[in-house]
Formats: sequence, structure tokens, C-alpha cells
Amino acid sequence: MERATIRLTLLSFLLICVISAPTKKSRDLDIYSFHINSTVISRYAITIITSRVANRVNESREVHFQVKIPKNAFISKFRMTIEGKTYDGVVKQKEEAQQQYSEAVSRGESAGLVGSVGRTLEEFKTSVTVAALSKVTFELTYEELLKRRLGKYELQINAQPMQPVADFKIDVYINEHPGISFLEVNGGLKSQELSSAVISTLASSTKEAWVNFYPTREQQIKCEGCGENGLNGDLLIEYDVKRSNQNGELQASNGYFVHYFAPTDIQQIPKNVVFIIDRSGSMHGRKIDQTRTAMLKILGDLAEDDYFGLIIFDSEVDVWKAELLQATERNVKQAKNFVKNINDRGATDINAAVLKGVDMIKRYPREGSASILILLTDGQPTTGETKTDRIQANIKKVIGGKFPFYCLGFGFDVSFDFLEKMALENNGVARRIYEDSDADLQLEGFYKEVATPLLTDVQLNYIGAANLTQTSFRQYYNGSEIVVAGQITDNSLETFQTEVIAISKNTNVTYQDSVSTKDVIDVLPQHENFIQRLWAYLTVKQLLEKEVALKGEEKEAARKKALDLSLKYEFVTPLTSMVVTKPQEEETQVAHKPKEGMRPPKRHHSMRRKHKPSSCCAKLRLQDYSISIHSLDTSKESVPLLIGLRRPRPNTRSTSKPKLAPTSPPSVRDVRFLISAQPKPICYDAPVGHKLLLLLDNSSDFSMNGQLSEKGFKLISLHYKTEKLLISCDESVYYNGENSVKFVWGQPEPSRHESDGMSIFLRNNELDVTMGTVRIVFFLHKKAGDVFLWPVVHQQPKNANIQGILGKTDLQYEELPGSKLKIKDLEVEASRSSATDYRFPAAPSVECWLVPFQSALQGELSDFTVSQL
Ligand SMILES: *[C@@H]1O[C@H](CO)[C@@H](O)[C@H](O)[C@H]1NC(C)=O
Ligand SMILES: *[C@@H]1O[C@H](CO)[C@@H](O)[C@H](O)[C@H]1NC(C)=O
Ligand SMILES: *[C@@H]1O[C@H](CO)[C@@H](O)[C@H](O)[C@H]1NC(C)=O
Ligand SMILES: *[C@@H]1O[C@H](CO)[C@@H](O)[C@H](O)[C@H]1NC(C)=O
Repeated sequence: MERATIRLTLLSFLLICVISAPTKKSRDLDIYSFHINSTVISRYAITIITSRVANRVNESREVHFQVKIPKNAFISKFRMTIEGKTYDGVVKQKEEAQQQYSEAVSRGESAGLVGSVGRTLEEFKTSVTVAALSKVTFELTYEELLKRRLGKYELQINAQPMQPVADFKIDVYINEHPGISFLEVNGGLKSQELSSAVISTLASSTKEAWVNFYPTREQQIKCEGCGENGLNGDLLIEYDVKRSNQNGELQASNGYFVHYFAPTDIQQIPKNVVFIIDRSGSMHGRKIDQTRTAMLKILGDLAEDDYFGLIIFDSEVDVWKAELLQATERNVKQAKNFVKNINDRGATDINAAVLKGVDMIKRYPREGSASILILLTDGQPTTGETKTDRIQANIKKVIGGKFPFYCLGFGFDVSFDFLEKMALENNGVARRIYEDSDADLQLEGFYKEVATPLLTDVQLNYIGAANLTQTSFRQYYNGSEIVVAGQITDNSLETFQTEVIAISKNTNVTYQDSVSTKDVIDVLPQHENFIQRLWAYLTVKQLLEKEVALKGEEKEAARKKALDLSLKYEFVTPLTSMVVTKPQEEETQVAHKPKEGMRPPKRHHSMRRKHKPSSCCAKLRLQDYSISIHSLDTSKESVPLLIGLRRPRPNTRSTSKPKLAPTSPPSVRDVRFLISAQPKPICYDAPVGHKLLLLLDNSSDFSMNGQLSEKGFKLISLHYKTEKLLISCDESVYYNGENSVKFVWGQPEPSRHESDGMSIFLRNNELDVTMGTVRIVFFLHKKAGDVFLWPVVHQQPKNANIQGILGKTDLQYEELPGSKLKIKDLEVEASRSSATDYRFPAAPSVECWLVPFQSALQGELSDFTVSQL
């Protein structure tokens, strides 16, 4: 074995960078690290984006930081760190920040603004001047309450760092007390090329889940929709929670509570639904085609005991039938023929059309049914009553709060504010339908959300609580969720009581629950402010909605309250702005939150600066963010990955389920490994004391071997061409044939080393290594006095000749009756068991199918041992 000729002890990472950087076709501004970290506790998601950029040139440069966040989220923190000094953004009342804003705008600066991009995202950008050969760290935090839609929650994470980043990663942690019923990772970023970069695990308690996404620099260029500028797309984490308690789920901490109510044990309520469809001239072409397509599908989905009506309008209002008719096969067929013949013409008389719809619903009341009015329009009222406030007043008066009114605005010619106010005043919501090839799917998707009413007139009551968010809801639909948060004012309560009164199909129903305050308070100390922030978030959101429909003093009071909370919790809302003071220039930049009503930026609209400087927008890439959500092939999830696991100690805190058949624990001479597969991972035991072949790819001249001892690996060696990396539990030494670099575990500051085709990052107890087409993260686990290493493969060559126990990634199986699995046409005995998932620092216990070593790896132990590391 060759010895290192020079030894560098761990230098500050600055020095190492400077030494090693020039070997790359170096960028003047190098984003050398980009991390996104999302923590979701009880549906409340706090996401932190950290970007580290180095100015590699001999003169100062302007460095841009530009990210996209979900529209629903509030930015709550922004920080820049330059040469050890931090500059924090400060949230101020909008008017107060207005002057700085106007000044920036008049200078033609677009920086620091939040603008809308696409359907679900808005953009935050800022820039700062960084001195020669200096660095800057940007850190942005945003928060949102995930909303349940069509039976699931969705956490959308957009990644577009603007260049390939060697040290790129997304870490997601989800903690849901009632348990997670399913977890899927989708989105454009999880394309074929990148699917192996996603690793997820669900603890056997099902209360916790982790998702990691660590694509290599090479993968970031090659993936679908990505290019020279690296990643560009979304990762969508979709999940739902278990609902064993029909009374809902209660969480509390630090004097705040949240109640999630989404019962499933009820029958659908028959509905009376009237669709009011705009056929004015502006709907001409694709819009009217798509509307017809969507309506045909929606009519086909009506339940037999639903009643429905169709109104089409331009300057004239026509009805299909004067009254509501039952959705019998015959009626639906006739209605479809009617829809097929809808053609665009004339002007837009919204007032008369909606009044007609309300009249139809009111004239045929049905006991035990839920009425819904849906308007689809793409324009302003242009004939009949054209004053929007008069229309709003008319409609509010005739509906009288009796049923919800939903407004769908098609495209950007509509006055969305008008529709939104009208919907919110009548217990509904307004939704924008984007003019695009999937507009029909957007319409259908919206309809699906309200297609199954389960309860009406829902009232939620809490004793000993105050400052409650909205507690009465006109209707509750299948697949959605009612959320109420508040402050617990009575500290002496031993039990906390929830009561929900509602009307189900023909009967009054009450859901009552009494939960011991001790049971309810069960959050980790680092998460204890989540419920309070959730409460503040929801309160502000609802006040901003309510404010739209209010007038005079009430409006002022709602605004004031929303503003005070926004300032207190440092949320960037439409009422506040974040002011960032830049270091050298002593100049400020401001971040605003745009309103949904705003038109998306267009290149040629550079004169619209007064509202929102759009000059910046020429750079934005407008694209579709949500079409892919529903059409993704989720079977891709089943790509198995090989991971290593160990069996947990018998008395770990995991609440293993009784259905787990007792399996003989592995002898102390075994270590349990795991291959992830669907529906459950496969696990097997490997005897300790051997030197194992972990990964071998002759074509790229890469190999990795490890010495397996009682807990995990004690020593791992990697060989790549002439390079070598030896990892032990104390330190790691990289040797490139001439020089060596040493990495010592547990350093507070991250350190790094990069050269052609290879990089090593050390972040505390995580050593992240890329060599050619392989990326492996090594964790140093410390558990109950044991210290050992665990490798996690995030990318490996797509090559059939990969050898080694971590190279088996194509395992698929079928579950057969009688605890048997069919693996590669062979039936094998399997037993339900569990293992510890050491791919994640938290090392959760997970469930798995235990099979013999030979069955899992399709080979004998001797095929996987080596004589020398
Ligand atoms: C993510 O952020 C949370 C909260 O700041 C922190 O506790 C956690 O360690 C971070 N996770 C990672 C992988 O950086
Ligand atoms: C950096 O700039 C200084 C001052 O302009 C100059 O003297 C020096 O040669 C430059 N160094 C390099 C490497 O360009
Ligand atoms: C509600 O949705 C769930 C899941 O999508 C479905 O299984 C259930 O049957 C629905 N309930 C009703 C009453 O339609
Ligand atoms: C439900 O309760 C309301 C008010 O308490 C009452 O007026 C109504 O008759 C009840 N309906 C049924 C079906 O019991």
C-alpha cells in the first residue's frame, strides 16, 4: 500500500477550496452548496433554503439569490452572511417599507421582490455585491399549512439553483401523530434519470417519515427539463394521515391547540348543483372547447341522486331546463347533447345569469341535500348590470348564506378580485383556471373537490379556548379537512373537549371528544412552537380572506389584526414587506407578497412597474408546475434500492404492531441489511467479521469494500482510478496518488475537497462522496456507545455488471399466501420483521420481509467477500 507523501491536517475549508477550485472549468460565481430542508409537524411545514456562493474572481461581483416558493407560504426569515457578518431581513408594515420600495423601483431594480410565477409558485430574488474571492450565504425560511385536497397533502419543493451544484441536497422530515397512511414522492425532478437520487423511509410506528434527494452534479445536468443550468423542477411529497378517530385529531403545545376534523364514516349527501357557464365571445376557441370537454366529464360523474341544472349566458341567459332535474342516465345524456352544442357569442351578463342560478336552486329545495352554485367565466361583466359592487350586493342578498357559491376565473382577462370577493362573501372560494392544454383537467379537478359533500352546517366548539380560527363551515367535502386552531386559556383543564355539530344526510350528527391534556401534549421540544405558528398562520390567512368581503371599520379591524400578527410572527403577507439592508451599499431591498389577482408577468409589459415591476420578469421562466401532479406514474416508486439496516433493540420506543410475527432476532454475529422495494422492503442478515464487496464497477474503475463488525462497518475503502478513500470511525483520508487530505468526523464547520469528477463534503457526521458516476453518503452512527459507519448509495452507474451487495437494485417480488415471497421466479420463505434504517441519521425502525441472504442477493456469501479492503 502506498503511503501519503504529504499530509494536510484539516484546513479551514476556505483554503482547501481555493487550492482545488481551479481544476474545474470554474465559474466566476460558484454556488458550491445548495440545501433545502423541510420539516413538517402536524401538516405545518417550515422550509429553509440555504445557498452558499463563492466569488472566485479578483474583483467584486453582484451575486443573485433567486428561489421559488409555494404561493400559499409566507416567508418568515431571510438572512445573508458575508465574511462572518449576518444581515437579517426585517418585516415591516408595507407602507413603512413603501418608500424604500418605490425608490428601488424608480431605480429600475427588481431585486428583493416576490412575484408570481406559474400556478403554484412565486419567486423571491435578491442580490448582493460580494468582494473579490469572498463568499456569501443566503438563507430563506418560509412556512405553510399543507391543505388536504382530494385525499392527500402535498409538499411542493422547487429546486432551480441556476447552476449544477456539487453539494446539492433536499432533506424532508415529516412527523404526524396519528400515523402516515401513505407517502409518495413525485414531481418533475423524480424523473427516470433522478429516481435513484430519492430515498424515502417510513418508520414502523408510521409517525415519522424521511425523504432525501441527493442528485449528483452529473444527474443535475442530464435530468428531464434540466440542462447546463442544472436542476429545474419540483419535488412533490404527497401523503395522507391515518384517521382512526372520527372525532378528529387534536394537537397542543405551549398553550395553543389545533384540531383536524375529517371524518370518513359518513354517507355522501345528494347535491343540487347548478353550473353557470360563460359563452361570451371571449370564450371563443380552445376555452369553450375545453369547457365542453370538462362539462361532459363532470356530467358523467354526477351521482344518480344528485339534481342538476345548466345555465349558459352571454348577453342572454339560457337554461337547459327551467328546473333542476335528477341526474338519471336519460337526463345526463340529454344534458350532454346540450353541452356539445354550446357555442361562443355575445357579451357577458354575469348578474342575470347568477341570479337565475340562485333562483333555480331556491325554487326546488330538497330536504337533506347540499346545494352548490358554480360559475365559470373568463371576463368582466359587460352587459346588463355591469357595476361589480352592485352585482356582488345582489348576489349576496339572494343567496343569503344558504349555500356556497364557487367562482372559476378562466385565464387572465377576468377581474379575479371581483370573483374572489363574490365567492368569499358566499362561503365559497374563487379559483383561477389557467389557459393551457390541461384547462379541462383543472375544471374537473376543482369539481372533484366539491363533488362529494359529507356534512353541511358544520359548527365546531371548544371549551376553555379563545382566539379561535374559523369554527363554522357551510359544507365539508370528502377528501378535504377542517382545521381549527386556538389558544387554550384555561390552564387548569385536565381534559380538553371538542364538539362538532353538523348535518349529515337527513340527520343531525354530533362528534364529541375529550382528550386528556397530558396525552395531547406530545411534541419534541424543538417543535413546540409549531402549533403556535400554525395558529398565527391560519389566523392571518383567514383574516386576509375575510377582509376582502368586509367594509368600513370591520375591514380596518381585520386588517389591523392581520398586520399585527404578521409583524409579530414576521410573516411576509400582502400587508407587510421584508426589508433587507445590504452591507456595502447601505441600501435596502424589499420583498412583497403578490396577490393572486395579479396577472402573471409578460415580457412586453415593462411599463407596468407601478404595481409590480415586471422588468424583472423577462428573466423568469414561466412554465407549468402542476399538470404533472396527477398524471405521474407512481409505480416508479417501486424501483428498489439497496440499503442497509439493522434490527432494532427489542425495547426501542417504536410501537411495533401486534401483527408482527415474532421472528428470531439475528444472532449478535449478524448485521441486518435491507433492500428497499414495494410494498415492503426486503431484509436479510449478513454475518459479521467478513470483508464485504459493497460496490464494484469495472467499467468506471470504481470499487468499494467494507469490513463488517458487530454493529455496522468499521472500515470502508473506496478506489476510483488512481484515487483512494479510506473511511474509519475516527477520520477519513483521501489520497489522489500525490497528496492526501484528511477529514475528521464531527467538525462544526463543513469541509470539502473537489477535483475533476470527484468531490468530498464533510458535514458533521455525514461524509458525502462523489466519484465519477457514484455518489455515496456515509453516516457515522453513534448509538448506545457503539460507533459505526453506514454507506448510502445515491447514484450508481446504470450498468448491468455492477457487483457487490449494494449493487443489487433490481429486486422485485410478489407476496404469496402463507408468508412466502416470489423473488425472480423462486418461492422463498419470508417472515415479517423489522430493522433499523441507518440510511437516515435518525435511524428509524421500519418493517420489512426477512428472507435468507442467498434469496435476497441471488448469490452465496463467498460471492460477496473479498480478501483485502
Ligand atoms: C433541518 O432543519 C431543522 C430545523 O432547523 C434541523 O433540526 C435539522 O437538523 C435540519 N436537517 C438537516 C438534514 O439539515
Ligand atoms: C488581482 O488584482 C490586483 C489589483 O488589481 C492585481 O495586482 C493582481 O495582479 C490581480 N491578481 C490576479 C491573479 O489577477
Ligand atoms: C371518500 O373518499 C374515499 C377515498 O377517496 C373513498 O374511499 C370513500 O368511499 C369516499 N366516501 C364517500 C362517501 O364517497
Ligand atoms: C337538527 O337540529 C336542528 C336545530 O337544532 C333542528 O331544527 C332540526 O329539526 C334537526 N333536524 C333533524 C333531522 O333532527
